[in-house]
Amino acid sequence: MPITTPSLLVHTAGQAFERGAVERRDVGPNDVLIDIAYAGICHSDIHQAREEWGRAIFPMVPGHEIAGIVREIGSDVTKHAVGDRVGIGCFVDSCRECENCLAGEEQFCLKGNVATYNGRQYDGTPTYGGYSTQIVANEDYVLRIPDGIPLDTAAPLLCAGITTYSPLRHWGAGPGKRVAVIGMGGLGHMAVQIAHAMGAHVTVLSRTLAKQDEGLALGADEYFATDPSGTGSPDALKALRNRFDLIINTVSADIPVDRYLSTLRLDGALVFVGLPENPQQFRVFSLTGARRSLAGSNIGGIRETQEMLDFCAEHGIASVIETIGADDVTAAYDRVVRGDVRYRFVIDTATIPQV
Ligand SMILES: NC(=O)c1ccc[n+]([C@@H]2O[C@H](COP(=O)([O-])OP(=O)(O)OC[C@H]3O[C@@H](n4cnc5c(N)ncnc54)[C@H](OP(=O)(O)O)[C@@H]3O)[C@@H](O)[C@H]2O)c1
Ligand SMILES: [Zn+2]
Ligand SMILES: [Zn+2]
Repeated sequence: MPITTPSLLVHTAGQAFERGAVERRDVGPNDVLIDIAYAGICHSDIHQAREEWGRAIFPMVPGHEIAGIVREIGSDVTKHAVGDRVGIGCFVDSCRECENCLAGEEQFCLKGNVATYNGRQYDGTPTYGGYSTQIVANEDYVLRIPDGIPLDTAAPLLCAGITTYSPLRHWGAGPGKRVAVIGMGGLGHMAVQIAHAMGAHVTVLSRTLAKQDEGLALGADEYFATDPSGTGSPDALKALRNRFDLIINTVSADIPVDRYLSTLRLDGALVFVGLPENPQQFRVFSLTGARRSLAGSNIGGIRETQEMLDFCAEHGIASVIETIGADDVTAAYDRVVRGDVRYRFVIDTATIPQV
């Protein structure tokens, strides 16, 4: 018997959320049924619910920052037990056979992994995400949330946490390295905390100084406003030329790529994790002048996501959140786009029912 779960649905691009229900598959031998407690609102939810990345599947139940408790397990499940604190991130299945899956980089599955929402299972069934009361997933794509992290502040780690942890590890953030983070939002405030815990020297490049005190309290060593007027003053970046080893760009919109490249020192890398709708432009000379790299990174694999959760617990790191109810989600989207959130909205899914 499929399981009917009260959920928040958006029926066409850009419309308001409505209460409704979606069906989850019956719990198979390798599946886990999770009672969702909290779901974070990632800017990627907004891009997709508004169809900013191209055609999406509707109705949509977004949410890939999911934290909850295991309610039921299938007969062959070994990794999780009823009552465990668990999470689900951006994908719920992958081919398990391609070279990237075998390397534990399932986020780059060559067959295409199964996105937690706005995707399809390999049998064609649409997937529905975490703005819901329950979800069923294969145990291999379910993470353990360490006891030290409350479920509400843990939820955003499942996307914002791993999306910043993975490139920081890959590009060697650590003692002696100067790391800059562009954008002090959901991803950015995690990047600051994680890079600081890795031992790097951390600089925030934000549009204004409005969030400076919090940025410094979360572990930034320096904080600069790049755009105090809202019109793109280049002066702040001119003063930072040839300075950083690694820049993590978390901005959801266009950035002046050349100006940021100029702040990288020899062999430095500018890594995009922010996913703007438009193509970005840069001059090749900005790279060749100091053997710089321009790169991108996408979430992280299951093994690395577990490593990140354990790292966060060990270092006392979690997301800074504003908890909201089901009725607030539509307005919360506008607030995220305006930059009016400190620093992640998390939906208390107990407020969803009423079907
Ligand atoms: N690659 C991946 O795996 C991955 C995973 C998750 C999310 N993402 C993408 O990453 C981006 C950020 O997600 P998020 O949830 O962190 O969003 P967010 O909370 O909205 O944060 C984005 C930050 O970028 C800055 N910003 C926003 N609009 C800007 C503009 N027009 N010009 C300059 N700066 C601007 C703001 O920081 P300041 O106010 O400090 O300037 C804002 O807080 C989105 O595009 C999302 O889809 C990618
Ligand atoms: Zn996300
Ligand atoms: Zn694969």
